[in-house]
Amino acid sequence: MSARPPRSPTPVPFPATHQNIRHDSAPLHVAGTARYVDDMPEPPGLLHVALGQSAKAHARILSIDLSAVRAYPGVVAVVTSADIPGVNDVGPVVADDPIFAETLVEYVGQSLFAVAAETRIAARAAARLAKITYEELPAIITIADARAADSHVLPPKRVERGDPLGTLATAPYRLTGHLAMGGQDHFYLEGQISMAIPGEDGDMHILCSTQHPSEVQHLVARALGRPDNHVVVEVRRMGGGFGGKETQASLFAAAASLVADRTGRPAKLRLDRDDDMVMTGKRHDFEVAYDVGFDADGRILALDLTLESRCGMSTDLSGAINDRAVFHADNCYFLPNIRITSYRYKTHTVSNTAFRGFGGPQGMLAIEGVVDDIAHHLGRDPLAVRRANLYGGPGRDLTPYGMKVEDFIADSLLDRLESSSAYQARRTAIAAFNAASPVLKRGIACTPVKFGISFTTSFLNQAGALIQVYTDGSVLLNHGGTEMGQGLYTKVAQVVADVFGIGLDRVRITATRTDKVPNTSATAASAGADLNGMASFNAARTIRDRLSTFIAGRWGVEPSALSFAHGKVTAGEHAIRFDDLVRQAYLARISLSATGFYATPKIDVDKETLIGRPFYYFAYGAAVSEVVIDTLTGETKLLAVDILHDCGSSLNPVLDRGQVEGAYVQGMGWLILEELVFDAAGRLCTHAPSTYKIPGCGDIPDHFKVDLVTQPNREETIHRSKAVGEPPFMLAISAYHAIKAAVAAAGGSGPVTLDAPATPERVLMAVRARQSGTGV
Ligand code: MTE
Ligand code: HPA
Ligand code: MOS
Repeated sequence: MSARPPRSPTPVPFPATHQNIRHDSAPLHVAGTARYVDDMPEPPGLLHVALGQSAKAHARILSIDLSAVRAYPGVVAVVTSADIPGVNDVGPVVADDPIFAETLVEYVGQSLFAVAAETRIAARAAARLAKITYEELPAIITIADARAADSHVLPPKRVERGDPLGTLATAPYRLTGHLAMGGQDHFYLEGQISMAIPGEDGDMHILCSTQHPSEVQHLVARALGRPDNHVVVEVRRMGGGFGGKETQASLFAAAASLVADRTGRPAKLRLDRDDDMVMTGKRHDFEVAYDVGFDADGRILALDLTLESRCGMSTDLSGAINDRAVFHADNCYFLPNIRITSYRYKTHTVSNTAFRGFGGPQGMLAIEGVVDDIAHHLGRDPLAVRRANLYGGPGRDLTPYGMKVEDFIADSLLDRLESSSAYQARRTAIAAFNAASPVLKRGIACTPVKFGISFTTSFLNQAGALIQVYTDGSVLLNHGGTEMGQGLYTKVAQVVADVFGIGLDRVRITATRTDKVPNTSATAASAGADLNGMASFNAARTIRDRLSTFIAGRWGVEPSALSFAHGKVTAGEHAIRFDDLVRQAYLARISLSATGFYATPKIDVDKETLIGRPFYYFAYGAAVSEVVIDTLTGETKLLAVDILHDCGSSLNPVLDRGQVEGAYVQGMGWLILEELVFDAAGRLCTHAPSTYKIPGCGDIPDHFKVDLVTQPNREETIHRSKAVGEPPFMLAISAYHAIKAAVAAAGGSGPVTLDAPATPERVLMAVRARQSGTGV
């Protein structure tokens, strides 16, 4: 690690907002000097922690013998549930996530105890020496098991409008179908990690890789049996979170803190990749069944849709995730008569959790599957059927949950993309290619995205910031949002620099800390910049208003006549450098620090019925993907991708472009490459990159064109920008449907049955099923 002073950012244009400005940590990332928790200097006396894990999916614990663990050389302490001074739970919503299992285990990998040793290797070796006897109980592993056993973490929810069943019975066309979609491991490059440093008199300082410092603080305090004000959680950055660190960092932070509290020594817990994959929840896998009635144009008249998800052993965020699946089961389509039923199954597997899109992708894949099946059934271009179903003006603008779609632009995005990507010409060319190519078949698909922005748990839509201006005019910025690579810190700094009219290099970004800004929400729901950008804007405005009143009074002008720009404050012929103004304000005893707060307006939704306005606005996008498949092996290759994505008035187009590209590729991984396999005993078989295939450079198509739509948000978000973190994930649904189109070209007729992920095996089976059916 270099001891050289950090490079200041290259000079940036003023104003900074809406400019292409690189990620604040980019030079550090490239140089390898960006510090993650495991790069922090290790304090003297540091202990390394490992967790003992359950070997059974569902069992009563008859006995635990830890004598060999304790006797292992280098072991300093062992902590079990009996040693927890406070509450043995880290459940974020419902208290059903024990830190250490007491009498019952409910998934393979569940944490049983912590062992602390002088080295990580000793701790890990010792953890394996526990002798545990179990009485095995019947384990519910799959969605089918849970359905049969009527096993739920939360009661089912239903949203219904019109007369779906009556209309189904009379519709000119009717189709039923089924679709299974897999889960997804977050595969953040930096795994879960926490380092807990005990202070004096019961204080605890935790360096943690989490999207939700406040929740970690509160849950650790509860486990330690102390008030929240004894615990500080600090996060400078994560090496990716993707939702996997929205709730699930707490277990590891709690285990490290319990060790630190008990021994008085700092303690670090870092999972290796296999343990991280086994012990942390994933995207929920879903099964979808539908019964749809439509007309000859493919226009949906009635839909009865069932969504079933595997939540795992505890509630975690499964309620909100499945709610969001319901909220996205319309995608861009008006569904006049609709019934959506959502089942939240309890299984004896690791508790599934937030993952980019947060249930939205699953709901959206369901409806896109329905629309695509209708198109194949009618033998029509799926894009034409998609268009026929789009939200329109009055009478066709109400979502199933009763929110009016006021900002619909998916139709114009599809128009633009259809022509800029030459969709129709390529469709014709692909048909010609397929007619002449017996083995390789190509497919193309164009799908839209409409994604609701706001936490659907309305109270979470709040944020705070703290800004300090020093007497040299430099600014220190802190807010409740966390940086996980998405560029939030950069965007918020741009906003603050512009309020003061100073260069971005004068704004210093600092680590998120619960003792600076309290009671924050997770950085999630893509709302990081919307919430923290606005809270920081408000904090900066407070200080600027004080400076304005002060200098306007001196100059005898109206505060409204002042301009803050290019490092100067001016009014008519008056001018002062910002730094000099700050110095003078200090001498005049004017406060130079302020907090800021923001709460999203307009949102209101009924938690039980899901009716209302859960979202402040929608973000839109559309993508065209083209693939080629080998009908003898089932292999697929993504050939070309064209994307048009709506970022509102982008705060930083180059960062947003990175989000769009990354999200598409991650979505493509979910739908095509990444397969989680649990065996019948509930053991995860795919717990390393050797068996779990995430996208690599080779999976990125040669033609990958991303265009941003930068028309202003109609709602008053920060500088009229739109959230971008999650929405483009679902653009990858086009790649999956392109594969379905290619399978359809292999022969046969009617809908293509293809579950996700579309691995070579599944593609091959789909080709075979189709060829042996009605067709060739
Ligand atoms: N981008 C990077 N590089 N790393 C991440 O972990 N997480 C995604 C998205 N983009 C993620 C990311 C998820 S799940 C969310 S909710 C948003 O970023 C959170 O950040 P934001 O609200 O600031 O967009
Ligand atoms: N998105 C992400 N995280 C959340 C949400 C949401 O809608 N609700 C509660 N946590
Ligand atoms: Mo993102 S799944 O809301 O952390």
